Amino acid sequence: MGLLDGKVCLVTGAGQGLGRSISLEMAAEGAVVVLLERNPETLAAVAAEIAAAGGKALPYELDVTDYGRYASVVERVATSQGRIDVLVNNAAINPPTHTILDDTLENWRRTIGINLEAVYMGSKLVAPHMVRQKDGRIIHIASIQGFASSGETGPYNAAKGAIIAYTKSMAVELGRYNILVNAVAPGCMLTPMSVVNGVEETSTPDFIEWYVDRRKIPLGRTGYPEDVSGTVIFLASDYCRYMTGQLLVVDGGLMSTF
Ligand SMILES: NC(=O)c1ccc[n+]([C@@H]2O[C@H](COP(=O)([O-])OP(=O)(O)OC[C@H]3O[C@@H](n4cnc5c(N)ncnc54)[C@H](O)[C@@H]3O)[C@@H](O)[C@H]2O)c1
Repeated sequence: MGLLDGKVCLVTGAGQGLGRSISLEMAAEGAVVVLLERNPETLAAVAAEIAAAGGKALPYELDVTDYGRYASVVERVATSQGRIDVLVNNAAINPPTHTILDDTLENWRRTIGINLEAVYMGSKLVAPHMVRQKDGRIIHIASIQGFASSGETGPYNAAKGAIIAYTKSMAVELGRYNILVNAVAPGCMLTPMSVVNGVEETSTPDFIEWYVDRRKIPLGRTGYPEDVSGTVIFLASDYCRYMTGQLLVVDGGLMSTF
């Protein structure tokens, strides 16, 4: 018996990093995992990985900012599978860093479009199916950057902060339909996203000295995708049934220090 046996779970940005890990773990727990990813190569690779492990994956190449295509994918899944149980809003970008002085409106709009507006789109598209079922889970992948900042990541921070606030609003609106809406805020994770301006941020000497050796991260290490996916499985599972509108911080204790 898996924790998600037979559940139809959509994961955006499923091709690498946290999305890949969440998808693999959901499939291992018995879910039919609908992989939504704009990169066809990584999409196919994760689908093959799940199939090789005996799991069920339905891969769809999708740019989550394309509302028309997103809507037709959701309809196809709902028709073929008969239901939609879980949406994990995970896809995001973290563009090269700028301050407000040298950032551009284009970068702001592109980042907000993927990291925030597409979260609204996906949630809006799956919610009617969950309302019909009187059951559903929407899980947003936010960030500790939604309430603290390393600087030079303005639109990313703004999107993540908005997601945390929107989690509350959605939870209040959708609770009457037994749709639980929660968010996860990862800390410093080792994924392809942590390569910024060509530098893998969690293995620089400064990072190691401050965050690891001096225990700015009390657990003394960078986070791995698997450290987050278990939390997402919990939120998607029947073990989580009386919790909504919440943010779970998965950061090795980073936000507990000063
Ligand atoms: N890596 C970290 O340190 C960290 C920390 C806190 C929060 N997060 C959050 O975790 C989530 C996953 O991050 P990650 O580190 O795995 O990132 P990543 O860059 O490794 O992976 C993101 C995936 O999303 C896909 N994607 C991006 N834009 C898309 C679009 N428009 N349509 C469809 N797919 C798209 C990418 O192709 C990629 O496969 C994000 O929401 C991110 O903000 C990451």
